Parts: sequence; structure tokens; C-alpha cells
Amino acid sequence: MEEPNKFWKSVAKELHFEKWSDKGLEYNFDHQKGEVFVKFMEGAKTNMAYNCLERNIQKGLGSKIAYIWEGNEPGDQMTITYQELLEQVSKFAEVLRTKGVKKGDVVAIYLPMTIELPIAMLACARIGAIHSVVFAGFSSDALANRIHQAKAKILITADGFYRGHKAIDLKTLADKAFSICHDQGHDIDSVIMVEHLKRIRTPQGAIPPEVKINKKTDSLWNKEMEAASSKNLQTSKIEWNDSEDPLFILYTSGSTGTPKGLVHTTTGYMTYAYEAAKKIFDSKPDDVFWCTADIGWITGHTFGVYGALLNGMTSMLFEGVPNYPDASRMWQLVEKYKVSKLYTSPTAVRSLMDCPTEMVTDYSRDTLKILGVVGEPINRPAWRWLHKVVGGEKCAIVDTYWQTETGGPMLTPLPGATPTKPGSATMPFFGVDPVLVDDQGVAKKGQIDGNLCFARAWPGMARTIWGDHARFIKTYFSTFPGLYFTGDGARRDQDSYYWVGGRVDDKLNVSGHLLSTSEIECVLTHHPTVQEAAVVAAPHPSKGQVPYAFVVLKQSRTLTADLIHEIKQEVRNKIGPFAAPEVVHGACGLPKTRSGKITRRILRIIAEGDHKANLGDTSTLIDEQVIAHLWETRPDVQ
Ligand code: WTA
Repeated sequence: MEEPNKFWKSVAKELHFEKWSDKGLEYNFDHQKGEVFVKFMEGAKTNMAYNCLERNIQKGLGSKIAYIWEGNEPGDQMTITYQELLEQVSKFAEVLRTKGVKKGDVVAIYLPMTIELPIAMLACARIGAIHSVVFAGFSSDALANRIHQAKAKILITADGFYRGHKAIDLKTLADKAFSICHDQGHDIDSVIMVEHLKRIRTPQGAIPPEVKINKKTDSLWNKEMEAASSKNLQTSKIEWNDSEDPLFILYTSGSTGTPKGLVHTTTGYMTYAYEAAKKIFDSKPDDVFWCTADIGWITGHTFGVYGALLNGMTSMLFEGVPNYPDASRMWQLVEKYKVSKLYTSPTAVRSLMDCPTEMVTDYSRDTLKILGVVGEPINRPAWRWLHKVVGGEKCAIVDTYWQTETGGPMLTPLPGATPTKPGSATMPFFGVDPVLVDDQGVAKKGQIDGNLCFARAWPGMARTIWGDHARFIKTYFSTFPGLYFTGDGARRDQDSYYWVGGRVDDKLNVSGHLLSTSEIECVLTHHPTVQEAAVVAAPHPSKGQVPYAFVVLKQSRTLTADLIHEIKQEVRNKIGPFAAPEVVHGACGLPKTRSGKITRRILRIIAEGDHKANLGDTSTLIDEQVIAHLWETRPDVQ
């Protein structure tokens, strides 16, 4: 694209600006030349919530359904129109103001997939507060860490919810986080709790969580909303934010253990999310869009909330899991709600493709037009199954490659326009300039394998890491000066198609959830029996990758089944259930170079169980015997 600036400004013209700015993208990626920064349309004033709601209502979409909500139990359902959503958002904006939340304050949101989640996000956007959504699958420790790091003033949560048969005591988890924060010297002013359990059905055999209310800090969502209704909501003022005012913080795993709070700002993110949802899902007025990603992840932010609403789409919010009550749930919902655009993950596809084909074909999928995937590389059999069985060979498949940091897709086909190749995210999105460099940072042309970087800024990119701009520069801009480095490796083929292989850093991708190995190692080494630990990614047939942990125990300790369970539980508690190691391998030592660096390359081969793999040069290791011992002690699946 010759003039990305002109293009992005023409996209922005379709949105509402209280004050326009003629400035486009301004940026510097080269830290050797000065401060790394990115700006888009500096000086303009707008509001994300206004663009999602009032702007669409003025276009006549007031009575259009914004969200269809389907609960965990089949038949628990509701809908909300754009007009109703605006009323709820305005009320909740007033609730936040009454609680003392002001422009620039951080609001932590720890909610299941209920309608209050987008309402709370949009209410923050309306008053210029910054939301920090924490995925409801995270543990108390992880939540506390995020609240503390962002200095959130207030927490929005719910009493509890169910995932399949499993009850999640969300409020109890939030209370624990609350006291961890207190011990760290950071107190939250107030907690607003949605009473969700009362209005949903309890799955058979599940025990509803017990909920404690702390009179000093807690209040109920409904009570607060009633109080707000008595006020004149016409006065619920919209905050006209500057283009570069932060819209939200979203945490993602960091290499050093502490998560990174990526900051997305208003105009650039809004423009990018709007255009991405519009073009990649070819948004049409009668669409029913279902993004299955939890709103707690970036895909849920950009497509489940902002991209969908900015385009005036009807979208689905599903609180359950794809295999409850059985593995046909997704296809039942596609039929029931006449879903036309479905955006899901390779993990979901892989877990469903092993079921009998009738579980899919018994339900009508005639309305489906586009099938999108994101989060990890999709293997060919999964791609083909999606295309053939789910899509009946008549749907476009869009494999979209992006990151929390990028705000929206970077490599993606455009449906109907880009010929696809199974497993390739194909070509760059508008104005995106991918570069593949070797380990020395030299850009390579033509067919090549390399480190995936981007040479030019795009409006949707994160601007910084909350409270730590130096870490932002170090993580993304220092490996290859002048370029944004994704941390992924990719190949470009003879047709200039990109094939993203996976992380080249110490991250692992479990069912599309990005985790850092050091974050898990940190939990393991804090366990009183563990002297040393190393975690690597091991391949898994449905989850893509799983953590495989090597632990060296302190003298006189033995790795019993109970201890393995305890160690796994510790990771569940400290990070979240999805981070628990699949395997805990008791080791007598770890392979290290003479300079003391753990050779993860070797550990990866052992975790993969690939006896034939070439271990490379092992002469630099302190103790070559360790490798033989690791092979001998390699456990079968635990
Ligand atoms: C991986 C999710 C291959 C990649 C939106 C990236 C992918 C990380 C794809 C970001 C894809 C995402 N093909 N790999 N289509 N999409 N990834 O921050 O490793 O949760 O860096 O953002 O997921 O994960 P994140």
C-alpha cells in the first residue's frame, strides 16, 4: 500500500469524531534514534462507546439486537438491543462516577461471559476510565497481580458461574485477590458484584458456590443500577477522549515472569478494530457474528466487543463450553441463532473434529459464510475438517495471525478475495509491512524462514506497557532495532504467503493461551521441595502445546504422585488451571552450558520424546551424563 496514512484516515472518516485531526500515523521504531513512540490522529477527540452505540442508533439500529446471550445451560438465553445497551451503559457509567471513578482511572473487570462484561467495558470507555479485563479463568494470585500492577481503584465481578458441570466461585477468588492486594499495600475502594447465579440454572450435580459479602466494600450491580435509574441519565456526559488517551490495559505473559499490561489507545485501536471486523468478516446488516473467544482475551476485546459493535453487528455471547452438554453444542447454537460468521480457535476445532461427523452434520449450517481462526497455527487436517465438514466447502476460511500487542490481525486473507492455502495466514492486512530477518537482524527477501517483524506502524498497535515503557522497548524493539519483533518465526513461500511457525522465544501456546515458561518456572521454584525447574513446550494433539516441567528436587525429597499433584495444583492456584504442567519430570539435574545456561533445546527434544533427534553439540555441557539420565527417567503420560 502506497499511502497507509491516507487509507487509515479515510477509514476513520466513517466514524464519529467530536474534533477531527489531519495528523496521521507518526512513529519511531528505532530506539537508537530516540524515544520509541506511535501516535495516530493526534489532537482528535472521540469516544469509543459513542461510536459503538449512539452512532449506530442514529443510523436507525436502535431496535437491532446487539447481543444474543446463551448461558451454560441450554435454554438460558436473552437478547439486548443497541438502544437497551446504551441505556445500561449510560447507567453503569453513572454508577462508576458515583463510586468516584474519573477519567484515567483503572477499573478491573473479572467477569464471566455475561452481558455485564461489555456493559462495564463500554461504561469505562464512555467516561474515559481505562478498563483492565482479567480473564475469569485466572487465579486469585494472577488477578491480584494485575490489580496491583495497574493500581485499579475498583473491581467489577460476579458471584460465580458454571463451565459445563464445574462451578467457579468467582467472588471467593476475587475476595482472595482482594486480601493479597491488601497485604501488598494496595486497597481497592469498592467491589461491584453481579448476582449471576440467581438468574441461571444450575447444571445437574453442581453445587452452587457460597458467596460472602463484605459490607464495607461490596455492593450489588442491580442495586447500583436501580439507584442510577432514578437520576436523569440525559446528563450522563460523554467524555470526549483524546486520540492517544488509553482505552484499556490487557495483560499478556511476559518472559521475565511478571505479566505485561499492554496499553491500547482510543482512535488508532478503534479505527483498526472497525476495519478489521468489517473487512475480514465482510460485515453485512443481517449477520449473526459469533466470536467464541472469551472477552478476557484480545480476540474477545477486538471482535467480540469493539469490532462487532462498531459495525452494528448482532453478535453472540456464549457463557458455556463447546463440549457441554455434548460436543454438538456449537453446531446446535449455529443452527439455533443462524450464525453467519464464526470466529474460533484451532484448539476448539481440533477437540471437536474427533467426534462423530453427525454431531456436526445433524445441525443446519446453511447460514454460515465465513469461518475464522486465530490464536495458534492451524494444522492442515483441522483446516480441512473445518472447510469440508463444518463449512460444507462453501465457506471462506480466514486464518488470522495477530497478537495482544497488535490490537488486530496482521496477516490474514480477505474472504473471497485472497486464495487460501491450508495452514497459512496468507498475506499482510492493509498497511502492514512484514519483514523476515535472520538472527543477525538482516532482512531477507524471497522464500525464506526468519524472525517475523513489522517495519511500519499500524493504528491498532499497543503504545506501551503500563508503567514500564523501557520494558516495551526492550521486549519489542531492541532485538532488531528499527523493527517491531513479534517473537514468532515464520516462512515466506514462493507466492509470498506467510506461514507462522510459532514462538521463537520462551513462550508456549496452550490452546491459544500464551504463557511464558519462566512464569511457570517461577511458581515451581517457589515450592518448598523444588530446587530448580525448567519448563518447555511439548506438542499435544488437541491443545497444540502443553507445559512440560523438569524439576530437580531438594536433597532427600522424592517425587511421589502426591507431590506431582501438589506441584501441578500450585501452578493452577498461582496462574490458572490452563497453565498446569501436563508432565512433571523428576530430574537429577538440568543440562547446562559451562556458563550456566540451561540448554532448553535439549529439554524440548526430551519432552517431545524424539529419540532420533539430533541433540547438536553437547560438548559444551558441564555434565553430559544428565541427558542420558533424563531419557531414562522420562515418565509416560501422567
Ligand atoms: C500465536 C491472540 C499462528 C502467535 C490474537 C502469536 C498464531 C500469539 C496465530 C499471540 C495464527 C496467533 N497462526 N500463530 N493465525 N494467531 N498466533 O497475544 O504465536 O493471545 O504471537 O493474541 O499467538 O497470542 P495472543
